[in-house]
Amino acid sequence: MMNDKRIQELLFLAEEARNRAYCPYSHYAVGAALLTGSGRIYQGCNIENAAYSPGVCAERTAFFQAIYDGEREFEAIAIIGSGETPSFPCGVCRQVMAEFCSGSFQIVTGNRDRSIVITKTLDQMLPNSFGPKDLL
Ligand code: THU
Repeated sequence: MMNDKRIQELLFLAEEARNRAYCPYSHYAVGAALLTGSGRIYQGCNIENAAYSPGVCAERTAFFQAIYDGEREFEAIAIIGSGETPSFPCGVCRQVMAEFCSGSFQIVTGNRDRSIVITKTLDQMLPNSFGPKDLL
């Protein structure tokens, strides 16, 4: 479990990352801050596209930068959306998390002004997931 200072730091960095969102279609900016096992933090934002489907969520932007850098162990991710209520990771992002994270991976999500913060594990968010363990 992370201490409160760590959680606040991740939420702050997620909020900072949200400023970089490219979201001219939804106008829903999201930022993420991903804490690796080695203690590094990778930020990400959502990046949309005029053709819509190529758009990518903040969570995956952060994950893919970290994976590219060689990181393979992850502790937690903080996510800050633009709504009055916290935004939870979409199904595709949960599946990406399941590829690289254990069930105890912490997902901390906050609403736009961080007045509501909810923490869940990946196991809670994606129970009975299909993952690398299932392939022969
Ligand atoms: N989005 C994220 O980046 N992360 C989430 O957890 C939920 C949704 C983005 C995708 C799209 O650019 C915009 O928010 C509206 O769906």
